[in-house]
Amino acid sequence: MISTELRLINRYLTLLEKSLTGSLVGDAAMDQWTGPRFEPKARQLGRDWPSLAQTMIGEARMKNLRQCCESVILDEVPGDFIETGVWRGGASIFMKGITEAYGDRTRRQFVADSFQGLPPPNPGEFPADAGDVHHTYPQLAIPKAEVENNFRKYGLLDERVIFLEGWFKDTLPTAPIERIAILRLDGDMYESTIQALEALYAKVSFGGYVIVDDFGLPGCNKAVGDFRTKHGIDSIIFPIDGMAAWWRVDHAPIG
Ligand SMILES: C[S@@+](CC[C@H](N)C(=O)[O-])C[C@H]1O[C@@H](n2cnc3c(N)ncnc32)[C@H](O)[C@@H]1O
Repeated sequence: MISTELRLINRYLTLLEKSLTGSLVGDAAMDQWTGPRFEPKARQLGRDWPSLAQTMIGEARMKNLRQCCESVILDEVPGDFIETGVWRGGASIFMKGITEAYGDRTRRQFVADSFQGLPPPNPGEFPADAGDVHHTYPQLAIPKAEVENNFRKYGLLDERVIFLEGWFKDTLPTAPIERIAILRLDGDMYESTIQALEALYAKVSFGGYVIVDDFGLPGCNKAVGDFRTKHGIDSIIFPIDGMAAWWRVDHAPIG
């Protein structure tokens, strides 16, 4: 029989997921492709941008995130959690909520973002990003104070939530993080993905997870492929919802 404690954890995390994705209240989309309405299928697959809810990754990726976090907590895989590219913070808030639900008082939640949207493409250094238009969307620029406030609204802002404010190329190489159990990449572009992998992958524990939100985007996909080829990483990549994918670090440390 499932214990009362586990049943309550499940209830809390299910409700938290529904609130953070906007499914709970049927929060309408605000992106230019979907139109101003709530479409359950789009929200399930993270294909729209909610008007008010705190994450755009959708329900399937939230469930994957929960499974990965629960797995490292229950398996006692050492390391902090980090998301690179947080927008309004919803996926990071979920990760923090999961550590809280399981009474984990040691892991830190790193929250890395420019808090001013994506960088313009730099095709000289990263040809795969030529023509990328993500930086032209003001909806993707969310100030740090708003993300902090979103953590606060859920009662999840404390000293173990660490904000890394700035461009990944500046913040991630010197981030004060030694071991990582969950590395969640959500920077959309080749540049943002490769910089996060170069700076952080070697810190992911054996048994930790790498989750790539934008695996279905050509630039991000190429960055992951280039990095894995360079370091001889052949861990099986599992798809989530036709866009995102993940793998578990099951090899000796790289580098
Ligand atoms: C698609 S949004 C992330 C969605 C978020 N994970 C969620 O739960 O809804 C992409 C985010 O990555 C950030 N970003 C992308 N590239 C970056 C870079 N090179 N440096 C800093 N932030 C970056 C943007 O500011 C934006 O907040």
